[in-house]
Amino acid sequence: MFRSRNSPDYVIPDIVVYCRPMRTATCIEDLRQLSRRRIPKMFFDYAEAGSYAEETLRANRADMERIKLRQRVLVDVSQRDLGTTIIGEPVPLPLGLAPVALTGMQHRDGEIAACRAAQAAGIPFCLSTMSICSIEDVAEAVDKPFWFQLYVMKDRGFVKSLIERAAAAKCSALVLTIDLQVLGQRHCDVRNGLSVPPAIRFGNVLNIATKPAWVWGMLRGKRKTFGNLAGYTPSDANVASLASWISTQFDPALSWKDVEWVRSLWPGKLIIKGVLDVEDARIAAKTGASAVVVSNHGGRQLDAAPSSISALPTIADAVGADIEVMFDGGIRSGQDVMRALALGARSCLIGRSYIFGLGAGGQAGVAKAIDIIRSELDVTMALCGVSRISDIDRRVLAGNVIAQR
Ligand code: FNR
Ligand code: LAC
Repeated sequence: MFRSRNSPDYVIPDIVVYCRPMRTATCIEDLRQLSRRRIPKMFFDYAEAGSYAEETLRANRADMERIKLRQRVLVDVSQRDLGTTIIGEPVPLPLGLAPVALTGMQHRDGEIAACRAAQAAGIPFCLSTMSICSIEDVAEAVDKPFWFQLYVMKDRGFVKSLIERAAAAKCSALVLTIDLQVLGQRHCDVRNGLSVPPAIRFGNVLNIATKPAWVWGMLRGKRKTFGNLAGYTPSDANVASLASWISTQFDPALSWKDVEWVRSLWPGKLIIKGVLDVEDARIAAKTGASAVVVSNHGGRQLDAAPSSISALPTIADAVGADIEVMFDGGIRSGQDVMRALALGARSCLIGRSYIFGLGAGGQAGVAKAIDIIRSELDVTMALCGVSRISDIDRRVLAGNVIAQR
């Protein structure tokens, strides 16, 4: 039986994949396969995992794949343009790199590598609060502004200092993540004893010993732990472990008043990330934010939540005229970007798709991931008879658009 290259049971010896040049990758799945062999298990698992039973993680993909696109023919598509704007800034394609914690554990100086790849492609990069390279490390390494993603923790003084540091680094937008007042458990992180830097445990050492290029890179990297938290380690927080830091430092009492507080400290562009409910979207639209990201945190928070793509159309219909709607969750191809734009998103963020590229091949791997998605979107537009991003709407969908669950 013909096996799709993407089928999970397509087994290729690890060493063959490990040695395969990254330039041979043809899709995001190829980059994922390379990354899986090239970086330590605990960090690959951390990137790939969803919370609990991973129902929502799976739904992000399953619901995306159920959306079909209309093939149209004999339309002149010789002049296609993927350009658009994201929060008022011109971009060559409707894509940005989502904030991803511990990016610097996927590859040496990972946040710098990803930011450089994004900026070379002309698209936004968002640095996570829980990054390895700090705001200042990234600002020093690139020559264009990037976005900073903020978690509001219990220590508002520390949060205020992060906002001031983002302003000092001339970050062009603040992305306020509001779907992680408490951390959704990822079972593999518990099993793997995820910590930063990796704890010296027999299982870890054995696995890491099979990743020589990663080890060599990390030894030469700028940092081995959370760069933005350097110098700020409350006595009751074990920074080595992400879960313990979040459980002691993040604030379950967060409210929309805190969004007003952040707004008072950050006069620049504000993006509210992590909205999945239309009532929350309506509240977010009234905060004065520039955009809202329809997101379930990549299926890593509330398990049994709807997929991002199934929540998108209702939210886009409700607030799309009042606030820019962005989307993330399950984007693994240009076809998926087309689906999200058709359902009302103005642009998409990718998380795992670029993280797999980073693990596969550093900055070049992230660039490869962006280029794969760009070329897939370009061909998809052509085969749907569409030449401009602004022409993409529900008319490019073939019938069975998934209903809100
Ligand atoms: C994330 N995400 C995330 N979001 C955020 O606001 N701050 C963060 O620090 C992180 N950290 C993080 C780590 C990892 C390993 C992943 C996979 C994701 C969520 C991320 O920004 C985005 O919402 C999802 O990744 C989108 O889903 P896809 O593209 O990964 O399917
Ligand atoms: C995560 C948090 C840190 O998804 O955003 O791991």
